Amino acid sequence: MTTESLDQLLARSLEGALTYRCLSVVAELGVADALADGALPLDELAARCGADPLTLGRVLRLLAPSGVFHEGPPVVFALGPLGHGLRSGVPGSVRDRLRAAWQDLAWSAYGALPAAVRTGRSAFDLAFGMPVFDYFAVHPEYGAAFDRAMARVSAPEDAAIAAAFDFSAARRIVDVGGGRGGLLRAVLARHPQATGVLLDRTGVIADVDAASFPAGRLAVQAGDFFASVPPGGDLYLLKRILHDWSDADAIGILRNIRAVLGAGGQGVLVIEAILGDGNEPDPVKVQDINMLALTPGRERRLDEFAALFAAAGLRLAEGPLPVAGFSVQLLRAVPA
Ligand SMILES: C[S@@+](CC[C@H](N)C(=O)[O-])C[C@H]1O[C@@H](n2cnc3c(N)ncnc32)[C@H](O)[C@@H]1O
Repeated sequence: MTTESLDQLLARSLEGALTYRCLSVVAELGVADALADGALPLDELAARCGADPLTLGRVLRLLAPSGVFHEGPPVVFALGPLGHGLRSGVPGSVRDRLRAAWQDLAWSAYGALPAAVRTGRSAFDLAFGMPVFDYFAVHPEYGAAFDRAMARVSAPEDAAIAAAFDFSAARRIVDVGGGRGGLLRAVLARHPQATGVLLDRTGVIADVDAASFPAGRLAVQAGDFFASVPPGGDLYLLKRILHDWSDADAIGILRNIRAVLGAGGQGVLVIEAILGDGNEPDPVKVQDINMLALTPGRERRLDEFAALFAAAGLRLAEGPLPVAGFSVQLLRAVPA
């Protein structure tokens, strides 16, 4: 239990919200790239970034105590220890994630959170009149930005997931809603016996770099997991899918997988963060509100996953298995 006062909580919360938004602003303006070769006087920095000097200085001063920028001598700014990660193209760069066009969509959705809590509907839906993946279909430029960001967020965890589960018995692995295929690529690289099938929406599949997969071991399929999933897999993957959807929709996806599970297969491997109980701070609770803002889905406790499995004719057979260094865990479900 924290001992901070209500005023301190409000101040900390406001600081967090504005810090995040200002990080997006400096990512958009390319401030870290402009400082890559060393410190610059504010006037020159602002000119290089197309910004108003006085206003840019106010933003940089907010971010300096976190170690993103450093002012010294006065009105001369340099990168702080964390600022290098905002540069373009450096390993682990967060610039694209922070400047992704859909950041603006997200902030509009956050504005609709009161209505979301009153109605139980997704804030995104209330703000834009349609669910997020429908919006991506109508505005493919946002969809492509989301897919790129998702692939980048997933990349570090894909190898860890491939190492966290014994895929050696799997011959044909189907990744349902597998995005651009990063997880399948990591699993196929470790398991030469396996082939992969990647199912996702048409616009996503069109951008898959099939040449980057081992020759002849990947099949791609555009489709709708609410209609059906490819048959014939002996292991189905669902990574960060169920948390996008309501219980009814999540059960629908699981039922479609259940319908094609053959005897002798390994079932379905669900890869998600799992909400804990209790009053402790938990990043999954933050992500849960992000899901409320952006999707019709939510993060779930272990018993809630078990209930989804039961409603789809499945049962938990293994897990939760940890993924070293990451918040996601593995749950393997098989026919009940
Ligand atoms: C949160 S992303 C997760 C992507 C990937 N599994 C990962 O972890 O990186 C959700 C994915 O579901 C896909 N998706 C959404 N609706 C779909 C549908 N009806 N049928 C197939 N894929 C869908 C999206 O295109 C997106 O790639």
